[in-house]
Amino acid sequence: MLLEVRDLHVEFRTRDGVAKAVNGVSYGVDAGETLAVLGESGSGKSVTAQAVMGILDVPPGRITHGEILFQGRDLLPLKEEERRRIRGAGMAMIFQDALSALNPVLCVGDQLGEMFVVHRGMSRKDARAKAVELMDRVRIPAAAQRVRDYPHQFSGGMRQRIMIAMALALEPALIIADEPTTALDVTVQAQVMDLLAELQRELGMGLVLITHDLGVVADVADRIAVMYAGRIVESAPVHDLYKAPAHPYTRGLLDSIPRLDHKGRELRAIKGLPPSLMHIPPGCAFHPRCPTAQDVCRTDVPPPYEVDEDRRSACHFWRECLHG
Ligand SMILES: Nc1ncnc2c1ncn2[C@@H]1O[C@H](COP(=O)(O)OP(=O)(O)OP(=O)(O)O)[C@@H](O)[C@H]1O
Ligand SMILES: [Mg+2]
Repeated sequence: MLLEVRDLHVEFRTRDGVAKAVNGVSYGVDAGETLAVLGESGSGKSVTAQAVMGILDVPPGRITHGEILFQGRDLLPLKEEERRRIRGAGMAMIFQDALSALNPVLCVGDQLGEMFVVHRGMSRKDARAKAVELMDRVRIPAAAQRVRDYPHQFSGGMRQRIMIAMALALEPALIIADEPTTALDVTVQAQVMDLLAELQRELGMGLVLITHDLGVVADVADRIAVMYAGRIVESAPVHDLYKAPAHPYTRGLLDSIPRLDHKGRELRAIKGLPPSLMHIPPGCAFHPRCPTAQDVCRTDVPPPYEVDEDRRSACHFWRECLHG
């Protein structure tokens, strides 16, 4: 396995109390595989990714338990210098907001080239040529001319392509894309997503794709992990999950995507709000919103039940959900 997160716990100590943002997350990604991580805002998707990348805000954040294995190596005991080396060359992250992730006062060619100068010891001239090559690769028109332009001179979609180019520069084995298209127009979203999926296949990278849009993952992901209140409530191959969810929360998410064949029908969003991470409900954290909750759900935390070999559900009543 390329990346394996095992029983990860992360909390934030704030003036108001301790927010338990990640509460026992385990997931894995193989080379060439795309794992979509899905869940409402605040479910711990980004914090988990930051822990993997080694860019968690510490303090207030703290990893209290767990392991992160990358290419078989446990990352958590490593020194910052070693983590930095792995970042970029081993794994890279694509953020939602390219404009704030890119340096506004450096032309994109210098920013892309910097990767090769710092990590590969290339000359400025060779690095510039590499930058143009990368811009071509992410299909930025007239790359050789545009390499001298600054981030603000590009459209949102083009800037996101530059972010992708930056992440790909050192051909990392793993990419984590955190809502890479959320800030873009719908049509541009699809183009950027397609590009990312294509490059991932071509380079055989592992991809962790964080999103709260179930609509975009069907075409690109192999597996899905659905998060709720810092836990994975269901993980499954995409097609199995779409065919029949094994968790009421997943069912709620699926029911809330607009479908062409359901035109005119009312959308059924999940009622209520996610819990405060300072006061996660006992038992199953989803029980206050669950239409099928029973007494046991209010008291007993559901373990990840094995639905089948490569599928887990943290619902005491996953059987009923699956067949309901
Ligand atoms: N720097 C921080 N300081 C304090 N608490 C934080 C910090 N970063 C995250 N948290 C806590 O962790 C929770 C989970 O955050 P996270 O960013 O992982 O959510 P998410 O699932 O990525 O949501 P979104 O879809 O909105 O990006 C937040 O609701 C917040 O309580
Ligand atoms: Mg996030």
